[in-house]
Amino acid sequence: MTTRYRVEYALKSHRRDEFIEWIKGLLAGPFVLHAGSVNSFQIGEDSKSNAEARRRYAEIFFDIERLIENQIYLQKTGDPTIGRLRQLVPSVGAFFTKLPLERAFYIQDDRRSISKRRLVSPSFNDIRIILNTAQAMILGSGENKVKLVTFDGDVTLYDDGMSLDEHNPVIPQLIELLKRDIYVGIVTAAGYHEKTGEKYSERLGGLINAIVDSPELSPEQKDRLTVMGGESNFLFRLDGKTGQLVWIDDEEWRLPETSSWSEENIKKLLDLAELILTSLKNRMQLSAQVIRKKRGVGLVPLPGHSMCREELEEAVLNAQRRLEVCEAARTVQFCAFNGGSDVWVDVGDKRLGVLALQRYLGDIPGNRTLHVGDQFASIGANDFKARMAACTVWIASPAETVGIVGELVQYLDESKIYED
Ligand code: IMP
Ligand code: MG
Repeated sequence: MTTRYRVEYALKSHRRDEFIEWIKGLLAGPFVLHAGSVNSFQIGEDSKSNAEARRRYAEIFFDIERLIENQIYLQKTGDPTIGRLRQLVPSVGAFFTKLPLERAFYIQDDRRSISKRRLVSPSFNDIRIILNTAQAMILGSGENKVKLVTFDGDVTLYDDGMSLDEHNPVIPQLIELLKRDIYVGIVTAAGYHEKTGEKYSERLGGLINAIVDSPELSPEQKDRLTVMGGESNFLFRLDGKTGQLVWIDDEEWRLPETSSWSEENIKKLLDLAELILTSLKNRMQLSAQVIRKKRGVGLVPLPGHSMCREELEEAVLNAQRRLEVCEAARTVQFCAFNGGSDVWVDVGDKRLGVLALQRYLGDIPGNRTLHVGDQFASIGANDFKARMAACTVWIASPAETVGIVGELVQYLDESKIYED
């Protein structure tokens, strides 16, 4: 039994989000006891079940809100490890803001019929989406009003491996953010070190053209788009007049914590990553190639081939485990992740990428920054680390990104009515 449990844990722990699973467990109680029966024919019984389940789910979200508040209090004043929430969910990270989960639940219950369902209990996705709405709500007003929104690229802004073309429905949303004087950053693993920024201009062309041509944006607002490439390695800023992505020198944004990284150690880390990925390719006889870049190494399928999910996961977990014990990894931070069809080991990570942007844009704090991404499973995912620098929302498709930015804009506008 124990062995079986251990095997399951080793295989699946990297794909779980303990906090969401824990909430799911709490909601299972009212679902089992109060969500009613599909075979109930008593008049009024159905409405009563809806109301009863809705009330009890809402109460649970309200109680979790209190636990999060307690956790934030302990983060500020003492030892967060003694927080009740941390004790119940040991892997839960720091919270940058409170989360109005009860109100977010009511909104999503109306959209997703959570309390009206009799056979399908509140799911992982229901909870993920409620957490997203709560995060957007709190960043839409008051002292946490958002100043910087950063986006992952692949799967978040456009489909995997594609580009941001002019028809992408996220473009008008990003312009809405800029119109409200919010900085927009793209924090992507895609690493192109050329100072011309050509590759990024190509992939983000639709957005860049829309910003430059927009009659609604002021010249200052047009300069508020930044691109952080290679996780945290190459920074560009849009010149809204010319449409050029301008390379920003390291000295203007490099974080002190990375200043001790020597070129020698970076090379050692990448050499080892190359060796590991090559040995994995040979061992699993993958139809793939190992690509070495200035700040990353990738295991990428050959044209016309693909790797199955298990092969990708084996490669990323194996690389992570072997790299984290190497000497160079003690000084140079790295990020090993499964990109969905390829595996990469990059120098730096998105925590550093978001922190560097915050610093460059005038010390924007984490509780006024939002990172939107698709990769939040704990190991082998690269947006996960951004949680240590900013508030986050976890989306599953570019369409969800459009939805959550739309919500954020709505909350910003609604709160303005009360503030003015
Ligand atoms: P993101 O989702 O925007 O972070 O981009 C991740 C994807 O970018 C990966 O899955 C790769 O396909 C691609 N990519 C291109 N160059 C690099 C690189 O240097 N490091 C990591 N990923 C890269
Ligand atoms: Mg992505």
